[in-house]
Amino acid sequence: MYRTHTCGDLRATDSGKTVTLCGWVDTTRDHGKGMFIDLRDRFGVTQVCVTPDSSAADLAVAKELGREFVIRATGTVHPRPAGQENPRLATGEIEVHVTSLAILNPSATPPFLPGQKELPGEDLRLKHRYLDLRRPKMQRTLELRSAIIKRMRDYFEQHRFIDVETPILGRSTPEGARDYLVPSRVHPGSFYALPQSPQLYKQIMMVAGYDRYVQVARCFRDEDLRADRQPEFTQLDVEMSFVDSDDVMGMIDGLMAKLMRELKGVEITTPLPRMTYDEAMRRFGHDAPDLRYGMELVDITDLAAACDFRVFRGTADEGGCVRGLCAIGAAERYSRKLIDELTEFVRNDHGAKGLAWFKVEADGTLASPIAKNFDGAMLTRIAERFSAKPGDLILLVADAWEVTCRALNGLRRRLAAELKLYDPDSMHLSWIVEFPMFDWDAEEGRWVAMHHPFTAPRDQDLAKLADDPKGCRAKAYDLVINGYEAGGGTIRIHDSKIQQQVFGLLGLDEEEAVRRFGFLLDALRYGAPPHGGIALGIDRVVMLFGGLDNIRDCIAFPKTQRAMDLMTEAPNTVDPKQLAELAIAVLRQSKS
Ligand code: AMO
Ligand code: AMP
Repeated sequence: MYRTHTCGDLRATDSGKTVTLCGWVDTTRDHGKGMFIDLRDRFGVTQVCVTPDSSAADLAVAKELGREFVIRATGTVHPRPAGQENPRLATGEIEVHVTSLAILNPSATPPFLPGQKELPGEDLRLKHRYLDLRRPKMQRTLELRSAIIKRMRDYFEQHRFIDVETPILGRSTPEGARDYLVPSRVHPGSFYALPQSPQLYKQIMMVAGYDRYVQVARCFRDEDLRADRQPEFTQLDVEMSFVDSDDVMGMIDGLMAKLMRELKGVEITTPLPRMTYDEAMRRFGHDAPDLRYGMELVDITDLAAACDFRVFRGTADEGGCVRGLCAIGAAERYSRKLIDELTEFVRNDHGAKGLAWFKVEADGTLASPIAKNFDGAMLTRIAERFSAKPGDLILLVADAWEVTCRALNGLRRRLAAELKLYDPDSMHLSWIVEFPMFDWDAEEGRWVAMHHPFTAPRDQDLAKLADDPKGCRAKAYDLVINGYEAGGGTIRIHDSKIQQQVFGLLGLDEEEAVRRFGFLLDALRYGAPPHGGIALGIDRVVMLFGGLDNIRDCIAFPKTQRAMDLMTEAPNTVDPKQLAELAIAVLRQSKS
């Protein structure tokens, strides 16, 4: 046997036992005739002591040990001397007195240590990911990920779902991002697309009668990366037959209640709260609002239209709006200089033209460089609209509706973090429902699907497909946790005629629709049941349950913002012979 216990197992009750441990040298402390070694593996740390009773040979081995050497130690478990217990270690009551010590493998001097307090730069961590993954924090996160996926699988098995794998080499599905393509050697000039999601396969599985499908599915999207977006990510993918929105949301409510109970020790109330898309945009300026705190947006366009301030009045007259938020008690904290920073933030990061502000004085009046542009009665009405109290800070943006949404959402999130308006350990889960079916793409001058083109309109909005696409609302729902979109799904169109009509609206004529999705339109004609589903972003769920702010920390081998794997140096050039076999010529070569 290589070892009798892991480095996290031993307790006071094991005293007197002879044990063998294996692991990595976390630290050593040299006491001349003796050595203390903190021995680490994934399960914990155990203090191993080379004592004056150990052999001279073992002491010599111990003196050679360096950081991250892999060793094997046999010895006897002793209670630590009174007063020397370490309550921060699960094994802190004991130590192992060495009777035999062996180096299984030395280590080169590591560029950083798993135990070091200060986190090294992310590029270094990603390049030496094997060292980074030795950090206890990474180990806990990957364990959490495993625990979440295990519970997801258990839950869906209990509800009689069937786990079906779908192809990785497939056809492009229009999820909205760019595809990753894989050239075919057998069919030169033809390409597979890696799935952006298993969307069409899971719908076809419903047509095939495999009601209640689930899959932990890898998805690939070539899009601009952010802290919550990776080019390669994992979905918990679900599809059900003979269901409406409530059934799908109810199923996920049950899953979330289970995860919260078993992993957070929190009982949540289900059904989870729901809010329409329109309400979310009006109250928070975003379709995934963080509902752990208030600071809702307030619209004063009507007041702006009646005031004398050129910027406000002009915006209102041109059909824009003036909206803002009130940061309670923040007037003192935000100096001119800090407000200038907020102004730059809404300008540069969110495309707003400016930021107006008022501080509420002790007597309730509003102070601001722009206050002189308003009469007293108007200032009072503005303060009242925000329910502003002395010490509060009112921030306002005058612009097109979409710009005020973007800027004030950004401002609301930033201020909430700076003012610590929420407990970072708390979790708030809710649904946003009734999304618009379509978004107008002004650049291309056409409608695009807000979710995807297979989404069903609400029954009462069917007629709007013909005459009011903008007003048409979808049977769509997003799961939102702490201001992140954790999942999204819809009830699907199961009628090939309605599907054709939606394709038409999206600018896909019949020929094009048949060319790209003929197999789906065909399938819909052979007895397709009403069906719908959802996909949760597992990486994001892990990030949120782990209280992290970056999904790269939830993935064993993530890509950088520039879609690179710094450890393996993918993507990389390939052998010209491989390209020739694929009938591919490279027109341009990146330098990096
Ligand atoms: P959607 O595109 O909304 O829906 O994706 C579902 C969920 O997947 C997560 N997600 C991502 N996570 C990390 N990196 C990314 N690049 C990324 N993109 C998406 C999000 C998101 O909510 N087929 C549909 C689902 C359906 O209709 O059933 C789909 O893929 O958490
Ligand atoms: P200006 O006359 O453009 O210098 O603007 C006067 C004040 O109004 C400044 O404090 C600006 O930051 C603010 N302001 C300008 N444009 C906007 C806008 N679109 N929304 C909110 N405040 C603005």
